[in-house]
Amino acid sequence: MYAQLVKSEGKSQAELTPEDIAFQERIDRGEKIEPKEWMPEGYRKTLIRQIGQHAHSEIVGQLPEGNWITRAPTLERKQILLAKVQDEAGHGLYLYCAAETLGVSRDQLLEKLHSGEMKYSSIFNYPTLTWADMGAVGWLVDGAAIMNQVPLQRTSYGPYSRAMIRICKEESFHQRQGYAIMMKMATGTPEQKRMAQDALNRLWYPSLMMFGPSDKDSVHSVQSMAWKIKMNSNDELRQKFVDQTVPQAEYLGLTVPDPNLKWNEEKGGYDFSEPDWDEFYQVLKGNGPCNKERLGARVKAWEDGAWYRDAMVAHAKKKAARAVAAE
Ligand SMILES: [Fe+2]
Ligand SMILES: [Fe+2]
Repeated sequence: MYAQLVKSEGKSQAELTPEDIAFQERIDRGEKIEPKEWMPEGYRKTLIRQIGQHAHSEIVGQLPEGNWITRAPTLERKQILLAKVQDEAGHGLYLYCAAETLGVSRDQLLEKLHSGEMKYSSIFNYPTLTWADMGAVGWLVDGAAIMNQVPLQRTSYGPYSRAMIRICKEESFHQRQGYAIMMKMATGTPEQKRMAQDALNRLWYPSLMMFGPSDKDSVHSVQSMAWKIKMNSNDELRQKFVDQTVPQAEYLGLTVPDPNLKWNEEKGGYDFSEPDWDEFYQVLKGNGPCNKERLGARVKAWEDGAWYRDAMVAHAKKKAARAVAAE
């Protein structure tokens, strides 16, 4: 692992401190790193960025689905979707708490989200146009999230790893509720089936983008893998996702919108077309179909909640003053 450290941190072998080396050895032995323990600054910063971005994605990810709670076709579907969207709020909160153990406050993280300095998953900058999109989002987007997150249960940072264990349990419910919607639509009327196919057509490539750029263009991978902050490469996870999802699409009787999709006996996986990476970088830069709307909704929620936060602080101060007076 030292060779990788040296390469990516720009440190020569001689510049690695004894702490750096001891830290890497702990990670290589599979030990968990806990909040108050020594860690390299780069490790702390990378984790703050990754966990913070993940937390933001959970919270912003509520928006495209929240859009459909009032329009769900039955009371049962409404209840299920409501529970799912509420889970995502919980995921955001666990993750903000995990990030706080690294010495950054939730307010600071939110400020960086609102200013555009921190990102969230690009998938949430796409619109959800029909009820079938609720199926496709659960099936594909939560499915891709699980693919990313299951290995992170073994990540080296204790609080992140423990948050992931809980989150992954809930994500598997999300994926199944999405697939259940797709089943209903795909076996419904011709119009419903057409809606299901259309949702798959629109969300397939954005879902593939959720694994991040191709390994050859991925900036942080090598160091993050040495630190076990990242457990698999982007392309590995993307391949796994395609291999898992294509048979599910076939079972639904739907067609994956990729003319180059083909089983490759030799590699034991599918060959498939890469997503349009120009589009990916455009959306990342803020030029996706819903970037402004999503960020606008978050900033508005923050501003609208100011009176409540102020009231809570005022109440806490009064309570503390009363406690002092009573002594
Ligand atoms: Fe989630
Ligand atoms: Fe989810």
